[in-house]
Amino acid sequence: MTGLFEVLEPEGKDWALAEAIDPARLPAHVAIIMDGNGRWAGRRGLPRVAGHKAGIEPVRIVVETCARLGVQALTLYAFSTENWKRPRTEIDTLWRLLRIYLRRETAELMGNDIRLGAVGRLDELPSRVRQELDLAIETTAGNRGMRLNLAINYSGRTELVDAMNAIIDEARLAGTLPELRASEEMIASRLYTAGLPDPDLLIRTSGEMRVSNFLLWQIAYAELYVTETLWPDFRRTDLLHAILEYQRRDRRFGGLGHESRRYASGRVSRLFEALGTAR
Ligand code: FPP
Repeated sequence: MTGLFEVLEPEGKDWALAEAIDPARLPAHVAIIMDGNGRWAGRRGLPRVAGHKAGIEPVRIVVETCARLGVQALTLYAFSTENWKRPRTEIDTLWRLLRIYLRRETAELMGNDIRLGAVGRLDELPSRVRQELDLAIETTAGNRGMRLNLAINYSGRTELVDAMNAIIDEARLAGTLPELRASEEMIASRLYTAGLPDPDLLIRTSGEMRVSNFLLWQIAYAELYVTETLWPDFRRTDLLHAILEYQRRDRRFGGLGHESRRYASGRVSRLFEALGTAR
């Protein structure tokens, strides 16, 4: 987390927010649904693609900030399997922006010790995008800091279908198909995110209260943070606010929270007192 203070203005607003963050309780994995690019452009009388272009700067800021904070993994929803329904020109612009990002930012990823990965059906990407992606992944493969996942041609349902098919194919090859039984571990270890911690914090910009087919399995216990801010306007301050809000949450994972545990144990002690027996 010390790395973050190196790029902050002493006594500035972000400095104060960063100081309030507890480094021992950082989310291990942050996932972001970057939404609102089209609306951002529309409100300025610009074509939708201008919103996507303006969406690059917050990507750079969020990647650098998470890496400097000490977050282990960051997953960004860049292109969903449903996004193919958009006009051809918009899709082409998204691919062009991704290639520009990869080309321009690989040096920055190296400087911040970030290892790039991608999740999604990558075989269906245009070949030039796939080549640049593979090159950036290969270049950063030796880095040991944060893992940056770009979700490209991704959907949570297709990821689960791919995981199930992998399990079936492996069992068929091993001749164990007739006795095959699924388990949570089997599925989790065949997801595109295998080996990474599940997201603790899922951020969505532009105020929409949906998960939009993103990391459906992995966000089972993620804390959701929705902000009205449109993605092109999202800055370091917004990210620090999201992390502080995450640290205020009482995570229960289906058990009892702090307050309920205190209340429950108080009631049990009083019950024992009333019965005249020690616990
Ligand atoms: C959703 O906004 C955003 C996308 C479908 C694309 C996200 C892409 C970027 C932020 C650009 C670059 C990304 C990388 C990783 C280099 P929307 O178009 O659905 O917005 P709307 O809901 O306002 O129409």
